[in-house]
This record gives sequence, C-alpha cells and structure tokens, in this order.
Amino acid sequence: MKEKITWVKNTLPKTDCAQSMTYLTEDAMLKVQRFHHSFPQYTVTPLVSLKNLARALGVKGIYVKDESFRFGLNSFKVLGGSHAVGRYIAAELGKDLSELDYPTLVSDQTKERLGNITFYATTDGNHGRGVAWAANKLRQKCVIYMPAGTSPSRLNNILREGADASIVDMNYDDAIRYCKTQVEQDRHGVIVQDTDWPGYGDIPAWIMQGYGTVSWEAHNQLRSAGVERPTHVFAQAGVGSFAGSVHGYFANAYPGQQPVMCTVEAAVADCLARSVRAGGTLTAVGGDMPTIMAGLACGEACNLSWGILKNHSDFFISIWDWVTAVGMRMLGAPLPGDTRIISGESGASAAGLVFTALRDAAYAGLRDELGLNGDSEILVISTEGDTDPDRYRRITWDGAYAGD
Ligand SMILES: Cc1ncc(COP(=O)(O)O)c(C=O)c1O
Repeated sequence: MKEKITWVKNTLPKTDCAQSMTYLTEDAMLKVQRFHHSFPQYTVTPLVSLKNLARALGVKGIYVKDESFRFGLNSFKVLGGSHAVGRYIAAELGKDLSELDYPTLVSDQTKERLGNITFYATTDGNHGRGVAWAANKLRQKCVIYMPAGTSPSRLNNILREGADASIVDMNYDDAIRYCKTQVEQDRHGVIVQDTDWPGYGDIPAWIMQGYGTVSWEAHNQLRSAGVERPTHVFAQAGVGSFAGSVHGYFANAYPGQQPVMCTVEAAVADCLARSVRAGGTLTAVGGDMPTIMAGLACGEACNLSWGILKNHSDFFISIWDWVTAVGMRMLGAPLPGDTRIISGESGASAAGLVFTALRDAAYAGLRDELGLNGDSEILVISTEGDTDPDRYRRITWDGAYAGD
C-alpha cells in the first residue's frame, strides 16, 4: 500500500515580511549572481523543457532546472555556502561583496589578512560539501558533522574536499546543536549553517540569498524560452531556506500576480505543513525521520524562510519516498526527444510530485486544486544529481522504493 500524499492550502493571515523580501529582489539577486559569475567553476545550469512529457501529461510546459551541473558539485547548495562565506569575509575586510570577486577571495593577501579560520557546518551532504569546497579554496580548515544514516558516499565527497567530516549518532537538528557547542570552544571557529536561531541570522540570510542565483537564472531562461510568467513554481524544503528563496524571488518578480507556489516536504519531516495546520505556529518534528530524501529530513524550520513561505507559498505538500522515486525514474528515462536529467532523492522530489499529480487518477483532486491544466507552465528544480550513486541505481535500475 502506497502511503498517501497529503497537502494543505495556505489560508494563514498575512504578516509583514517586507524586510526579508528585500533580500530576494531581482536587483539583489543580480549582485549575488555577479559574485558567483566571478568563480571559474560558474556556468548557468540548464533549464530543460520537457516538451513531449508536457504534451503527454496535458500541460503547456514543464521546465526543470538541472542543478546537478552546479560547480561540478552535483547540487545547488554550494551557491548558499559560497555566498555566505564571501559576505562574511567581505565584512571582515570592511569591503562590499561587489569588491570581492573570486580571485580576490582566494588570494594570498586575503588569506594573510584573515588569518586562520575554521568553518563549521552540519549537513545531510550537499550543504557541507559546498562549505568544505569553499573552505578548501580559501585554504582554511573545515569541520563538518553529518546526522546518523548519512551514506558513506556523501561523507566521502566531503572528506575529498579536505574537511574533517564525521557522522554523529543523532538526527540533523540535534547535530546542529552539537555543532554549535563545538564551535563555541574554538576561537577561530565560524559556523556556516543554513538555518537560523536567536542571535544567528546574517549567515542563514546570506545562504538563502546565495540560492537566489538558481531563481535568477531560471527566470531569465524562462523569459528566453518565451515564458513571461510561470503559472506554477514548486520547491522542495528541508529547513525551508531554498523554498523561501525561490518563492520569495518569484513573489517579488510578479507582484500581485505571483505564480501558484508549492512547497514540497518529506512527510516524515513536514514541519512547514504542520506549522500551517497549527495556524502559523512553528511546529517541529523530532526523533528519527526515515526517508531517502536526506536533504529534506529536517524537522525544524528556518524562521527567516518561514516568514516568507507563510506569506507566499500557496500549498504545502507532504510526500513519501515512492513519489521522489517516480521523479527520479521519469527524469532519468525521458520520452524520446526530451532531455535526460539525472536527479537524486531530494532533487527529484518536486518533479515526482508534479508527475504524480498529473498522471495518477488518485490525485486528480490535487491536480485540480493546484489548478494544473492545459495552460500551466510549470517550473521545478532538480536540486541535486546522483549524490548517492549506488542508491540512484537501486531506484532507477532495480525499481526500489516503488511503494507497493
Ligand atoms: C538536494 C537538496 N534539495 C533541497 C534541499 C532543501 O533545502 P532547505 O534545507 O534549505 O529547505 C536540500 C537541503 O539540504 C538539498 O540537499
């Protein structure tokens, strides 16, 4: 028996999130994109139009932004860590980010002026890989903690960046608390975490802004493809920083006529959907969160992004592993003429949900409620490639996680 997808329409009263929205304007994102553009590893990742699939599923367009190509690191996450580290260093040097391009950042002069720093982070894999990568380029130390259940291949990816990475016997949110205690004992320590807590807000905001390069690129690519306004934007969420960044950007881009925006979570860690159901009170999920969607296995939301999502995300949808497995398989084995996308377990979650809503008669109600029809032009982001290659093959070759 397949576990059921559930969803909640956001009818929460609007609150003032104007301040956080200023982080995510097109102009602010242009500045971030220019910073990323100065990296030798930077290329615009593809926006794939699955034309034949869209026709087959009865919608006008399905556009998938493929983040497996990002900086050779197989996920969008490095955009957040690198931007936050850049902003932190700019502040330390008393400069504006626009004065700090990649060559300056990694120069001997910058290293001398900064002295020794150890960057700390907790990660399911992708965020920590980005932070470790940035620290490596800066020739600084990096300590990474990973929650119980992390796959060896994700750990190895981080060790390869020269970080001191280890798996701790706790869930993601507890691992963050542990990381905080460790950094407090290190006078050279700086924590680069993709979620906030009282007294710790700048770096998470810079991380969220860093993700904005994805939306900025996708928006321009959509326009080049003749799509003036996507009708639907789906973003997957762990702590919600990525979805907050995407939805904040597109709400800013289309004031008063924003696309239908949907936040997609792993049902075992759907703290945002629960918070909507609780009338807007942030509600955490604790304990084990068993899911293959490692990047979405976060039970405590980022406050900053929640402030944006509760005002701009229209639906919060809770999915199961079988849904993302559908997304991985369909993206990996496209219809003739459509481009293949290699998408991992967290990466394919939103696409899997869209495909299921459009194909599965059991979810005709969801399709109708979201207003998906022949006029729909849908944007989804494949946020990672095969970050766990063994499991990728078990799912796409052997049909694992079919949910029956
Ligand atoms: C591949 C992937 N997609 C989506 C997310 C969700 O991002 P956030 O935790 O900001 O909600 C993550 C988080 O690690 C991720 O690794």
